[in-house]
Amino acid sequence: MHFVKSSVNVAVIGTGYVGLTTGACLASLGHDVVCVDVDERKIEQLRAGHMPIMEAGLEELVQAGVAAGRLRFVVGAAGVVGDRRVVMMCVPTPQAADGSANLSYLMAATAEIKDHLAPGAVVVNKSTVPVGTAERVAQALGRADVAVASNPEFLREGTAVADFLGPDRIVIGSADPAAARVVAGLYGGVEAPVMLVDARTAELIKYASNAFLATKISFANSISAISEELGANAHDVLAGVGADSRIGPQFLQPGPGWGGSCFPKDTQALMGLAASVGYEFELMQAVVRANAAQTERMVELVRRLAGGRLAGARVAVWGLSFKAGTDDTRESPALRVIAALLAAGATVAAYDPAASAPAGVIAAASALEAADGADVLAVLTEWPEFAAVSPAEVAQRLAHRRVLDTRRLLDAEAYTGFGFTMHIVGVGHLDHKRS
Ligand code: UDX
Repeated sequence: MHFVKSSVNVAVIGTGYVGLTTGACLASLGHDVVCVDVDERKIEQLRAGHMPIMEAGLEELVQAGVAAGRLRFVVGAAGVVGDRRVVMMCVPTPQAADGSANLSYLMAATAEIKDHLAPGAVVVNKSTVPVGTAERVAQALGRADVAVASNPEFLREGTAVADFLGPDRIVIGSADPAAARVVAGLYGGVEAPVMLVDARTAELIKYASNAFLATKISFANSISAISEELGANAHDVLAGVGADSRIGPQFLQPGPGWGGSCFPKDTQALMGLAASVGYEFELMQAVVRANAAQTERMVELVRRLAGGRLAGARVAVWGLSFKAGTDDTRESPALRVIAALLAAGATVAAYDPAASAPAGVIAAASALEAADGADVLAVLTEWPEFAAVSPAEVAQRLAHRRVLDTRRLLDAEAYTGFGFTMHIVGVGHLDHKRS
């Protein structure tokens, strides 16, 4: 499908990682973008050119957009939406106490803009929202002259800009074909198939995608658990499985469990949506249970390496963020492992190149400093710099040469050569080489 490239006036409400990426990328595609937030400090920071999040390529895009006069930052939506053809809703939809998505930010933003929207405007939900939310927003707007569409984002933290500008697909959900065309027109210049569907379908595509990705990882983690015991190599098993084009190699990397700001909340929300229509999503329940079990298994492996006792043991942790390339620790498996280690009476010293250590943990200034005097080293996030640390130096720092590599990041040959006992997730236990 081809759309004529023309500049559209856009307001992006919410300057989190989705909103800021959306705003900066739309400006780079030639649109006139106003990014809005309720947080005055954040807007001041952005005006001063400081990025509130760590996102590859974002700062350069923001600078270019501002320099070109196509991107500005404003507090409060009511004053800016009057001349905007499209209003992108990118506000947070955190998990409510019952597991469902909390729509209070979205509904507050809707109430704020409803009397100020230009006739013919299109309000677009980019935030991940329960099925039926587009209709709910339309009702709350109460404006027959304004259309509502769903255009879910599929951005990964750390690669959000690249994901926005090079998506696998663009999903647009709306009952109004003219509104859907306006939204599609925003992506002129982006090479990707555009799927035009109804809003409910678009909303469910987002949840189902994240739930399926989480399912793939839980499957990989379950294969890792049995491979370690059966003497197979899960990484090779999964490479063999992923080579089947019907399956695909991505998101089959075993690890300490999945985390982050999306998968945990979106899997819960999808189970809730299913329950709301009387369907018990048992497959999803098992996926979530397998994820918790994988993290618990990591704690058990540290216990085993520590000689069967965590009380009084000192554990060095490399990596706190939920994955490499971000400082985000929301729902990080590393933090879950650490909490369990502390609860069992271990002392934990941790280092992360970007994220800060939680309470109760000794914050180390480097990977080697974290290793000082530790009984076990646990690698929990796949930061490339950990692979570059010299095993000889690690050996000198540790009290005992034992390492759990949950991301298969370290050079096993080199480590075992230096007398380490290792457990590699998906591979199993490796004893040190005797010379
Ligand atoms: C995810 C989705 O990928 C994205 O499309 C959606 O918009 C938001 O949620 P993100 O949370 O940034 O993105 O992280 P992602 O890269 O998907 O990783 C999620 C978790 O799964 C991390 O904890 C990661 O370490 C883990 N993971 C990922 C694995 O353990 N193995 C894999 O093979 C892939």
